[in-house]
Amino acid sequence: MARCRCRGKLLCMCLLPCMMTGHLVIYILVSIFVTLSYTPPKIPQRYVAPGASDPGPWSPLPLQPFWNLQLERALWNRLQHALDRRHNPILNANATSSDANATQRDCRAGLPPDGPADLPEQVRAFVGSMHRRRYPLIINQPNVCGPDGALTPGSPALLIAVKSQVGNFENRQAIRETWGRRGRVTGPMGRGVWEVRTVFLLGRQDAGNGPHPDLGRLLELENRQHADILQWDFRDTFFNLTLKELLFWGWFEEHCPTATFVFKGDDDVLVRTNRLLEYLQHRLDEHLLWRGLQNNSDASFDLFVGEVINNARPNREPNTKYYIPESFYSGVYPPYAGGGGVAYSGSLLMRLKEVSELVQMFPIDDVYLGMCLNRLGVAPSHHPGFFTFDLPRYKRTKPCSYRSVLLVHKRTPKQMLLLWRALLGLPGRC
Ligand SMILES: *[C@@H]1O[C@H](CO)[C@@H](O)[C@H](O)[C@H]1NC(C)=O
Ligand SMILES: *[C@@H]1O[C@H](CO)[C@@H](O)[C@H](O)[C@H]1NC(C)=O
Ligand SMILES: *[C@@H]1O[C@H](CO)[C@@H](O)[C@H](O)[C@H]1NC(C)=O
Ligand SMILES: *[C@@H]1O[C@H](CO)[C@@H](O)[C@H](O)[C@H]1NC(C)=O
Repeated sequence: MARCRCRGKLLCMCLLPCMMTGHLVIYILVSIFVTLSYTPPKIPQRYVAPGASDPGPWSPLPLQPFWNLQLERALWNRLQHALDRRHNPILNANATSSDANATQRDCRAGLPPDGPADLPEQVRAFVGSMHRRRYPLIINQPNVCGPDGALTPGSPALLIAVKSQVGNFENRQAIRETWGRRGRVTGPMGRGVWEVRTVFLLGRQDAGNGPHPDLGRLLELENRQHADILQWDFRDTFFNLTLKELLFWGWFEEHCPTATFVFKGDDDVLVRTNRLLEYLQHRLDEHLLWRGLQNNSDASFDLFVGEVINNARPNREPNTKYYIPESFYSGVYPPYAGGGGVAYSGSLLMRLKEVSELVQMFPIDDVYLGMCLNRLGVAPSHHPGFFTFDLPRYKRTKPCSYRSVLLVHKRTPKQMLLLWRALLGLPGRC
């Protein structure tokens, strides 16, 4: 035993120095090799930028401009590019937003009025009128938010604006009887009391623009009863929803600028108004607190909340509702919130309206909102209570699944009434 241990020690003492010497030799050899093979880079006599030609003794000329003159071929991108150039403070110091018309004219020179003939029909209808942003009001409600929208004790905390269509009488009535009832709303468990007003946003649907039964008299009657209809003189189609939004912003600025929050959504959603208000008020309180701590009384309250969709691409499937051909728009969509329903602050609405002058109209309204937000540098915030694609099927019939829901899409008028009644009895049972 003792001999064996002794031999191990001897082996160790002999081997270790050998290995170390070996490593040292390898290191020295590699160092010598690297030093020998190194040649210093050749420094040219004159500096020639990469990508530039070398014209000999004269100063080098760049082969290409460093900015991108390679215009996108898609129509919307081209129009937006022209608008950007017009508003570029360096290129165009004196341009004003009222020149948007001129941009359209410059850029469209040589194009048929509704764009290249290979675009699908509804896109062509959009292109044909996308330069026009003003349409007269047929039915107005100037006093919904108090006389002339003045800041009075009764001016609303929330203005609900519902995108509807002339024929959807039943949806509007269901909304009036449930989540869109005008008046006071009390928060859950009596926390907070808010004033709420509702308007319905309509375009025109009558024989004047395609075959349609004339419902004008019925609408008149409805409006006399409820005084909550806003109707503009444009064709009410899916691709005109962005126009509806812009017209609503214009109306808001004039007639309801004191509303703190705005909810904008479809007429087939159900909103838990008091929960939504409680959440919005919470965000406002947070903002005011933060503003106080920062001692920054100018910080505007930029709240935009909904079901946020990131990294969406245009739908390239012809014959679908959302089809956007490659020749009309190229690129991805900015983050945006699903159009079933979104809530934002009144102050953000004003800023969105301003920046919308710098963004070409886009046929899909929720994406357009995303583009404007992007321009403002405001990120839409996601709230998991917005179910614009509905709850999982097996949860829909259980009232308790709606405990944390703020908005759910889509519900028929009858379902809306039933669900609303079920939700009123909710707090005790869940
Ligand atoms: C901008 O306006 C100023 C004064 O209004 C004028 O002197 C100047 O020439 C204008 N610049 C351009 C590029 O039109
Ligand atoms: C824009 O052009 C249309 C007709 O092309 C005209 O009716 C409208 O007044 C113009 N708007 C502005 C602001 O120049
Ligand atoms: C939008 O409304 C205008 C005015 O009525 C109409 O000319 C245009 O064709 C409509 N756009 C679409 C896409 O329907
Ligand atoms: C807040 O700002 C005001 C004026 O800008 C200044 O007078 C005041 O001292 C500031 N307060 C704090 C706590 O920084």
